Amino acid sequence: MPKTIVVTGTATGIGRATINKFAAEGWNVVATVRKESDLETHSDLPSVKTLLLDVDDETAAAPFAQLAQKQFGRVDVLVNNAGYYQMGPLEGTSMDQVHRQYQTNVFGLLALTKAFLPSFRAQRAGIVINIASITGDQGYPYNSVYASSKAAVAVLSESLSIELAEFGVVVRAILPGLHATRIFTKIDKGDSIPDAYRAGITQFFAGNSPTGSEPSVTAEVIYRAAVDPDPTTVRYYSGPDAVSIPRGKRILGAESYWQDKRILGAEGYWQEFRNAVLGYPSDLWNTLISKPGTTPVETEI
Ligand SMILES: NC(=O)c1ccc[n+]([C@@H]2O[C@H](COP(=O)([O-])OP(=O)(O)OC[C@H]3O[C@@H](n4cnc5c(N)ncnc54)[C@H](OP(=O)(O)O)[C@@H]3O)[C@@H](O)[C@H]2O)c1
Repeated sequence: MPKTIVVTGTATGIGRATINKFAAEGWNVVATVRKESDLETHSDLPSVKTLLLDVDDETAAAPFAQLAQKQFGRVDVLVNNAGYYQMGPLEGTSMDQVHRQYQTNVFGLLALTKAFLPSFRAQRAGIVINIASITGDQGYPYNSVYASSKAAVAVLSESLSIELAEFGVVVRAILPGLHATRIFTKIDKGDSIPDAYRAGITQFFAGNSPTGSEPSVTAEVIYRAAVDPDPTTVRYYSGPDAVSIPRGKRILGAESYWQDKRILGAEGYWQEFRNAVLGYPSDLWNTLISKPGTTPVETEI
């Protein structure tokens, strides 16, 4: 009996690649899109049913969960993938933009997760996979709103992983590095950025890699998280830039700081990261932290 997965935000990017991966692995798939014009996105895949969902609408979560369960009789895995990127200095970002970013990336995700938990608890099985980001692991400048929303996603996944273990429900967070998707062509930029920030923003984004991973890289990691027999692992990093972070934390934190400066490991890593973002990475940083993938990233900064 094939398992069933629900994935939000599947018209493009990582969500779409995830649908392709699970369909190819023989799963039943419930895909969501938010525009009627995208309902045919997966029409060449017979095991995929595509439904409309805007995750911002919290009142839609419970009826959607019921509808999703009816498609194939039960749901085994929920992937909270829908999200977007708000960018800009906090001072130039309106509180309305802040609320909207959290509504999609955090509150919508929480509402949908809540809607699936009663059935997961009743069947004493179910996996929730939340798409966070490496920006939720280490705060980049001009990203405070997006990064903090993704940090919330990573940490709430850890809380729920422990809270739901007694019911047989597993919770994971995926932390992708830079990926070549449409997300950077749809950036919600701070709506009143003071000119004083322009030079810093230009310098920061000029230092960013113009290339990233293919979305299929993260789809593979999501698949691994869905079939991993270890229920206790929460954080899965995807893409070469992301997978080098835990390695960098171990080594940069321990070796470069512990002995000479007596700073704890996490703080040592943070200082190295901060220097790299400011444009003067150490040789050790350059050795340990990999560049993102090689696919050109389309951006409209
Ligand atoms: N690309 C990266 O470098 C990267 C890195 C780390 C994490 N991520 C995360 O990965 C996830 C997927 O992003 P992506 O890079 O694949 O970008 P993408 O191609 O823009 O895909 C995002 C999807 O989410 C959908 N979406 C946005 N707001 C929604 C809402 N309110 N309700 C329902 N669907 C909504 C979008 O729908 P529309 O097509 O209608 O806009 C789109 O299909 C996001 O959570 C993102 O934050 C991406």
